[in-house]
Amino acid sequence: MVEPIDILNKAEEILGYSKNLKGLRAIVTAGPTHEPLDPVRFLGNHSSGKQGYAIATALHKAGADVTLISGPTSLPDPAHIKTTRVQSAKDMHQAVQDHLPADIFIGAAAVADWQLAKPLTQKHKKDNDTWTLNLTQTPDILKHVAQLPKSERPKVVVGFALESHDAINNARDKLNRKGADALLINAINETHNPFNASSNHLHWLDHAHIDDWGNASKDAHALRITNEISRLIKGDI
Ligand code: CTP
Repeated sequence: MVEPIDILNKAEEILGYSKNLKGLRAIVTAGPTHEPLDPVRFLGNHSSGKQGYAIATALHKAGADVTLISGPTSLPDPAHIKTTRVQSAKDMHQAVQDHLPADIFIGAAAVADWQLAKPLTQKHKKDNDTWTLNLTQTPDILKHVAQLPKSERPKVVVGFALESHDAINNARDKLNRKGADALLINAINETHNPFNASSNHLHWLDHAHIDDWGNASKDAHALRITNEISRLIKGDI
């Protein structure tokens, strides 16, 4: 089996980039978030964190000073990358704010959208047949970072769009709504499920164009994302 780091070394040779992000600070969010309901239960999702960790590694290899802010995953901290572990969307948002300013922000985390505003302090017992939850929205971290005043906003803000239907139109709307510079469109449907897989089909969408990147390993996509970020930083696109 080829180790991910070998793939990165190979792809680095092929793509020919070397340390072109030197001197730049990057923040990458990755993995799921867990929103507590009571001391034993949470709301979460199937994100493994693989894509976000691969992006953090690729940015580091391109010379950036990378901070990875990760939700709960089973992956080890990537080598040479400062990694902060958090549980909930609220904690992830706080950690991102604590680590700003940065030149590059990549929101690769599958942040849970819904939370129980006041998690129960005691275990919810089976006193009734049903349990109705009144959920509120979590803070939108990507939107917050993308819409910071110009002097505080990272030069490049890139997120993901996980879409189960009408992917391109929904992603276009999401790109404008959030104010990011680009989104990677991740389709989830009966034939394609990116969760926990080592490969994935992505489209790159920015304000000028859309590009079908096809199915590739998450490490290969991470390198390509790093190249696009270099071009965005230089103002080429
Ligand atoms: N995101 C975020 N904070 C949230 C929700 C999402 O930072 N509370 C970021 C994700 O990291 C991703 C992007 O927003 O980069 C899009 O996430 P996605 O789940 O596709 O979209 P949502 O904002 O959740 O919108 P919807 O559920 O309506 O598709």
